[in-house]
Amino acid sequence: MASQRKFVVGGNWKMNGNKSSIDGIISFLNAGPLDANTDVIVAPPAAYLDYVRSKVNANVAVAAQTCYKVDKGAFTGEISPSMIKDVGATWVILGHSERRHVFGESDELIGEKVKFALSEGLNVIACIGEKLDEREAGQTNDVVFRQTKAIADNVLGSDWSRVVIAYEPVWAIGTGKTASPEQAQEVHQSLRKWVSDNVSPEVAQNVRIQYGGSVNAGNCKELAAKPDVDGFLVGGASLKPDFVTIVNARKD
Ligand code: PGA
Repeated sequence: MASQRKFVVGGNWKMNGNKSSIDGIISFLNAGPLDANTDVIVAPPAAYLDYVRSKVNANVAVAAQTCYKVDKGAFTGEISPSMIKDVGATWVILGHSERRHVFGESDELIGEKVKFALSEGLNVIACIGEKLDEREAGQTNDVVFRQTKAIADNVLGSDWSRVVIAYEPVWAIGTGKTASPEQAQEVHQSLRKWVSDNVSPEVAQNVRIQYGGSVNAGNCKELAAKPDVDGFLVGGASLKPDFVTIVNARKD
């Protein structure tokens, strides 16, 4: 039976762009056409959330790339879920591997952020993924299950409908080395089984699991054909018109 899960594609712009290059991205997003059966989300740098929201069509949701775990206060440099909502963005990416490995975010902090963002009404793309040495040591499942548990422990029942899991093997991010469709499917399937055993079969059936790591216009169709791949989180290629092809990977 084909999955009932709606395909979901996010573009993580990371720390890239300025008003002029962002205008170019917005024009190819608005020209589309974007498959109406796919949820499309773009995550600009925080400084441009408001700008992007004011210019991109309503069929594209806007996400922050991270946020903090409290509403306001003396936390220099951070932004809160209420600020994200105030400028019309509705999603936040949490636990991205660059937040984990460049900025030292722990499973515990990511769990706290997930909890607070959900309690504030945001939708969350929660990222997990193993490093190359962990994969080579046969620890992929241990790592992604541990990371998923730290997230799942902070999601209350019905809030699961506002969570998307992004499986992004660290060795595939920005390296041009994509997981093969079989490698992605294998991990996605194990993750869904973990969710079934540790959360509930119903959540496992409905939760969307994106793949991320060097997704491009050339490899997206084959990956999208896998039954447990419910979308993508795209970095580099989300800055280019190729992103439209990736959004439409499930179409015809
Ligand atoms: P990439 O990044 O597509 O450039 O590999 C993916 C990501 O970090 O989400």
